Amino acid sequence: MRQRERMTQASAQVWLLSYYRAAELRGADLLGRLLRKTDDPHLHINLTRHFADEARHAWLWTRRIQELGAAPLPVVDGYQRRLRQYVGLPSSVLELLALTHVAEERVQQRYREHAARPGEDPRTVAVLQIITADEEWHLAWIETWLAGQAREYGSGQIVALLDRYRALEAKAYAELASEEERFGITLRSSSERPRP
Ligand SMILES: [Fe+2]
Ligand SMILES: [Fe+2]
Repeated sequence: MRQRERMTQASAQVWLLSYYRAAELRGADLLGRLLRKTDDPHLHINLTRHFADEARHAWLWTRRIQELGAAPLPVVDGYQRRLRQYVGLPSSVLELLALTHVAEERVQQRYREHAARPGEDPRTVAVLQIITADEEWHLAWIETWLAGQAREYGSGQIVALLDRYRALEAKAYAELASEEERFGITLRSSSERPRP
């Protein structure tokens, strides 16, 4: 492999991991916002553990970027910013947790796809696997909480909210994925790519 090609691959990797890091940090921000919005003690326990996980994920990516001999790149137009362009900024605890759940579904799918990418560095795969294991609990506890809300307020409202967020999130993600492809990063199968 030529030196220039190696350098391009390394910078694409740092670019990608900086996006992951920024998304984890924004995820932690959103959980901090949720913590300030509720005084439900049970919710506080899960939200605090979840908040700590997302902050740790951001650190794992920071350390991985350092291992690559780089520093995290500033990210101004990351996943959550694009998501906000489509969804806006929900204000209620229910909406914020429903949106968090939809974003977590994406993270889980995305990190699994990335870990399966042929030729990926095993150190990056190891981080992806650690995070994916935590994300399972993130999805599970919010799902349980949403099921409780559905029992109280009716499942129709929750299902409609999740469906609406999933549709908007898919648009935001497609936009980001197209940009990645311009950077030479392709994780998705051709059938999932947006049509021009
Ligand atoms: Fe995370
Ligand atoms: Fe998460």
